[in-house]
Amino acid sequence: MSNTLQAIRGMNDILPDQTPVWQFVEDTLREVLSSYGYREIRMPVVEKTELFKRSIGEVTDIVEKEMYTFEDRNGDSLTLRPEGTASCVRACIQHGLVNNQVQRLWYTGPMFRHERPQKGRYRQFYQVGVEVFGLEGPDIDAELIIMTARFWKRLGLGDVTLQLNSLGTVEARTRFKAALVEYLKANFEQLDDDSQRRLETNPLRILDSKNPDIQALLGEAPQLSDYIDDDSKAHFEAFLSLLDAAGVAYEINPRLVRGLDYYGRTVFEWVTDQLGAQGTVCAGGRYDALVEYLGGRATPAVGFAMGLERLIALLENQQAVFPAAEPHLYIVAMGDSAQREGFLIAERLRDSLPWLRVQTHCGGGSFKSQFKKADRSGAQYALVIGEDEVVRGEAGIKPLRERSEQQSVLFDDLPVHVAQLFGHGTD
Ligand code: HAM
Repeated sequence: MSNTLQAIRGMNDILPDQTPVWQFVEDTLREVLSSYGYREIRMPVVEKTELFKRSIGEVTDIVEKEMYTFEDRNGDSLTLRPEGTASCVRACIQHGLVNNQVQRLWYTGPMFRHERPQKGRYRQFYQVGVEVFGLEGPDIDAELIIMTARFWKRLGLGDVTLQLNSLGTVEARTRFKAALVEYLKANFEQLDDDSQRRLETNPLRILDSKNPDIQALLGEAPQLSDYIDDDSKAHFEAFLSLLDAAGVAYEINPRLVRGLDYYGRTVFEWVTDQLGAQGTVCAGGRYDALVEYLGGRATPAVGFAMGLERLIALLENQQAVFPAAEPHLYIVAMGDSAQREGFLIAERLRDSLPWLRVQTHCGGGSFKSQFKKADRSGAQYALVIGEDEVVRGEAGIKPLRERSEQQSVLFDDLPVHVAQLFGHGTD
């Protein structure tokens, strides 16, 4: 083993046994997104480093220490995307999608962050992200939340709770930040090293601290909610009343600030206590200033992203059952002419029954060894062809999962017979 090459730490292979649950999650999300009128956008995995520095913020954890940044052969500084919002905004500005238009968009794909890997935290991980441009009212914030609640319902996920906060406008937050820094400076000795460092770089992140002493100190600190401007307050109230009307439960968490700089007004996280420390499965909020900041026309925006590994871990915890991907039929054929016939029958079946999963045995071998493989494939039936069957123009259909007799079926009758076996029509 020591000489064989391994995947990079924190970057996982997703093996064939695991892909059915991934496909179930992706298909379900795609269906729900399209039922709300969201359209897919695909962006490159690599962007100019400057894009992430400017949008996520120079003094965030992501930009300070987690980006995979490299020089390409032209000497340009490029970065593997740590998230999708910045790229999505860049693409929309570049292609004129945010000039007085409403866009409801989604994307999926791998993101890259050089974090310390642990359960639920990886260096390559998958997100499904959603971004809406051109709508400033609280109704779209509510639509996003209601849609995520529908995701959980359709996926069969329980045990996720919604946390909400409003960050107010940039001005409100700047005033709050000044008051918070003043308070924390007066109590500098009580801050741990991390918070002392953050006081200089990104003081709002101190609110996120897991240290109970810091949380106690923050109990007496100025509260963000006292600094929120009236418009943002009204926006938040209207948003909450829509959630109440739709019956979506939430908790208001005044310490929720998020780790990326572009947010203002509504922020939210869906969290679970079933995944240990990495319990946030979905997070996002408003970022009304970002499009203009990156060179586009002023355009309100709101969105979120879900971590697929975490959603899948949660589903696996709940022992959900996923649609099978095993073959329906495994074709066992003995002898040259039977093998050729088997190939052609498989093709004809695929022509007439597009839903059917047929696997043809390749590589010859005895009936016994072929049946072993048929059994291992998980197929429900073996379709058996020997030289005699070729002469008679019929195949044997042998149940592999129950004790019952093999039946003989004429080649020409196979599509109808197989469709009946699985309770389908032939078209
Ligand atoms: P984020 O909070 O950085 O936000 O990431 C969103 C979600 O991605 C997290 O809640 C988590 O489920 C998943 N995630 C993040 N890092 C990792 C990791 N290292 N390993 C596994 N999963 C991870 C954003 O990325 C924003 N772009 C969301 C957004 C979209 N805001 C507005 N629009």
